[in-house]
Amino acid sequence: MDAAFWHDKWERGVTGFHLDHINPYLAAHWHQLKLPAQAPVLVPLCGKSLDLAYLAGEGHPVLGIELNTLAVESLFASLGAVPEPKPDGALRRYQWDEVAVLQGDLFQVMPEQAAHCTAFYDRAALIALPEAMRSRYVAKLAELMKPGAVGLLVTLDYPQESMAGPPFAVSEQEVMARLTPHFEVEPLASHDVLADNPRFVAKGVPWLKEQVYRLVRR
Ligand SMILES: C[S@@+](CC[C@H](N)C(=O)[O-])C[C@H]1O[C@@H](n2cnc3c(N)ncnc32)[C@H](O)[C@@H]1O
Repeated sequence: MDAAFWHDKWERGVTGFHLDHINPYLAAHWHQLKLPAQAPVLVPLCGKSLDLAYLAGEGHPVLGIELNTLAVESLFASLGAVPEPKPDGALRRYQWDEVAVLQGDLFQVMPEQAAHCTAFYDRAALIALPEAMRSRYVAKLAELMKPGAVGLLVTLDYPQESMAGPPFAVSEQEVMARLTPHFEVEPLASHDVLADNPRFVAKGVPWLKEQVYRLVRR
C-alpha cells in the first residue's frame, strides 16, 4: 500500500472506510482513558475523519497526519475552514483553531513535530497497512509517543483468506505480539459487526469483529 494507492482512492472517491458520523467506539471509550483535560492527541492516518472534530470538541488539541491533500482539505471544509498550508519539516501543516493536520508521509514526521502529544487515537490506521508495514508503523508510533502517552486503538479481525485488504485483519494475538514491546495493552471491547457491514458480507467474509484497546506507551 504505497502513497499512489491511497492518492488513487481519494481521487476516485473510493473511501468506504470514511464514516459520516463519529466512531461509536471513540465516543463510548474515550473517557475510559481518563486523560487530563486538554491533552494533545495525535491521530495518525486521519483521512477526513469527523473524529478529529469530536476530540477537539472534548477539549483536546488535535494533530492529524494524512498523506492526501484532498482528504485534508475535505476535513477542514467539514469544520467550515480553509486554512493555508505552511511547510513543516518534510510535510505541510494545516491549522484551524485546535485542529492541526500535517499533510504528508507519517514516516517522515520527526519526533519534535509531535512531541507535545501525550495521547493518540488509531482507527483504521494499523489495519490500513499490510503486514510488512505494520511493524514499521508500530515502531513509528512508539518513536513519536513518549513514555506514559495513552491511546485508543480500534482494529478489525476476520479470516484474512476470505478477503484481500485493506482493511487488513489484525487479531488480538497480533496486537499483543506487535505492541507489547512498546505499549501496555488492555483490551476494552470486542463486537461482532458482520451484520452491520454488507460490503464484507458480499465478499463472503464469514465473521467480522471490531476490537478496542487502551494502550499506554512504556
Ligand atoms: C483507511 S484510511 C483511515 C482514515 C481515518 N483514520 C478514518 O478512520 O476514516 C487510511 C488513511 O491513511 C492515509 N495514509 C496511508 N498511508 C499513509 C502514510 N504513510 N502517511 C500518512 N497518511 C497515510 C490514507 O491516505 C488514508 O486516508
